[in-house]
Amino acid sequence: MLRLQGPLPERYTKASAGELAGWIGAAKAALGRRVLVLGHHYQRDEVMAWADARGDSFGLSRTAADTRDAEFIVFCGVHFMAESADILTADHQQVFLPDLNAGCSMADMADLDEVEEAWSQLGAVTDLGRLIPITYMNSSAALKAFVGTHGGAVCTSSNARAVLAWALGPAEDGGAGGHQVLFFPDQHLGRNTGYDLGYGPDDMVVWNPRLAMGGLDEGRVKAATLLLWKGHCSVHQRFTPEHVATFRAEHPGGIVLVHPECAHEVVELADEVGSTDAIIRAVAAAPSGATVGIATEIHLVKRLADEHPDKQVVCLDPLVCPCSTMFRIDAPHLAWVLEGLVAGEVRNRITVEQETAAGALVALERMLAIT
Ligand code: 13P
Ligand code: SF4
Repeated sequence: MLRLQGPLPERYTKASAGELAGWIGAAKAALGRRVLVLGHHYQRDEVMAWADARGDSFGLSRTAADTRDAEFIVFCGVHFMAESADILTADHQQVFLPDLNAGCSMADMADLDEVEEAWSQLGAVTDLGRLIPITYMNSSAALKAFVGTHGGAVCTSSNARAVLAWALGPAEDGGAGGHQVLFFPDQHLGRNTGYDLGYGPDDMVVWNPRLAMGGLDEGRVKAATLLLWKGHCSVHQRFTPEHVATFRAEHPGGIVLVHPECAHEVVELADEVGSTDAIIRAVAAAPSGATVGIATEIHLVKRLADEHPDKQVVCLDPLVCPCSTMFRIDAPHLAWVLEGLVAGEVRNRITVEQETAAGALVALERMLAIT
């Protein structure tokens, strides 16, 4: 989705790294506890250096929900994360995204019209009362609202298992009592979690929103437990089983850690699969001298390599795979937003319209209650 981020004034684009660091530090000091800077693990070091809290998308949404004293929350991450923070924070709190073009190509692979269309097509062949919509955190607030108003929940890479188990669990055990789940927008997280829960290939089908009835026949739709939206992350889909094989050949005894947005053929070869936070914990837990190959965004992999000089931490893809939208947040944009706050100027505030926010809050709170 195109958002309009105008060019920054020359004061910021021409500044040296030292000047920018000085301005960011001064603005943060002037704002004190009024501002909270949140940094997702994929952010550049020049941005992460200023984060008051670092986290995966689940941890940051919890921090946003739990921090009531900060008036301004500057979210160094991508648009859907800032939207979720706005929904989870109180009315007196304002959320800012330093570059409005920091979106997520995966989140853009499902929009409300497409999901509503899919829902209505599914309604013709299956019982919508037993179909639970689950959206990955990486989705617009509008989709979270759809899910909230149709009995479903949000999930992240760190709690997808618990959320899917809830969706398909019997109502008497506190589950949603679903027989089927429509999972969007990431087919890989859905599939990997489905396998993790014991479902097989015949229980899962891919719903292609570009084709009538998702490209499926009625029998397949009715028989499937998990209907997986045909979306993916362009960063994580780069990793292949060959990357793992090459790493294992070069580093016998090496440890392979992968993010669940990777394809299942990669995930099944890994030693551990988990969110960015889980990957960080697994590197910390690896013995000194270990070699660790990671399938996730390069800024996190590089930071882990720097933070663990006693271990060899490498990216499984030798051709480096940055998330181009996370990369949009840089020191100039952070300085520009923070200096705006000091001057009383609102720059890049993210707001979710009230009705959408109310529906999305239901889906986010269900997730927080489940996990
Ligand atoms: P995490 O929830 O693991 O931080 O992942 C977010 C994301 O966008 C991964 O690509
Ligand atoms: Fe989106 Fe992939 Fe970037 Fe995560 S890494 S923000 S899923 S494009």
